[in-house]
Amino acid sequence: MKSKLQVRIAASILSADLARLGEQVKEAEAGGAVFIHVDVMDGRFVPNITVGPFVVEALRRVTALPLPTHLMIVEPERYIADFVSAGSDWILVHQETCPHLHRTIQQIKTLGAKAGVVINPATPVACLTDIVEDVDSVLVMTVNPGFGGQEFIHNTLRKIRQVRRMLDELTSGAALQVDGGIDHRTAPLVVQAGATVLVAGEAVFGTNESVAAAISRLRQSIAG
Ligand code: DX5
Ligand code: ZN
Repeated sequence: MKSKLQVRIAASILSADLARLGEQVKEAEAGGAVFIHVDVMDGRFVPNITVGPFVVEALRRVTALPLPTHLMIVEPERYIADFVSAGSDWILVHQETCPHLHRTIQQIKTLGAKAGVVINPATPVACLTDIVEDVDSVLVMTVNPGFGGQEFIHNTLRKIRQVRRMLDELTSGAALQVDGGIDHRTAPLVVQAGATVLVAGEAVFGTNESVAAAISRLRQSIAG
């Protein structure tokens, strides 16, 4: 049943104060985030450019939390090994960037990392049918990828429900992540739709309150 699913918070460092990245990660960890989500952008698949394996290596030295690494890059298969060696224990690739998605998922698993597939807001859930049994996670983008602080796209709720149904039918324990525009207003909606991991950037690092208070506000919004 939906209500029994455990919901976890992933803090996205995209909105962190990068001059104090180590401290911010520790604050998120102390506040109850259980994943540190790393957004990798190449200026090609998405308009923005962010970080590479060096930053993952630095993060690995400051936290023992899993570092799901969200690759918003073309030809992600070229960089997966580098990220895993740097310390990425989850690799999330976009369906839209992987013509040989099955091979890419196997590549991630062979390297010993957990594998996740990500779909953009306009990508239909049906494209997951033949890969969902092979992944540890499905991530539904709830904004168009590329930037933090964007507005949640409400049509994606229908897709979250569809993925939930797909996973339940297979009795799959794969994590259902949502990413983009998640805050205390949208968190209850995505949890109701069946999400189990809430990725949040601005709602964790971009508020006027402390990181711990921000995470607690998010948690409270979905309590009960
Ligand atoms: C957007 C990234 C997200 C981003 C979410 O392309 O994938 O992880 O950090 O940021 P918020 O939570 O601010 O929408
Ligand atoms: Zn992300």
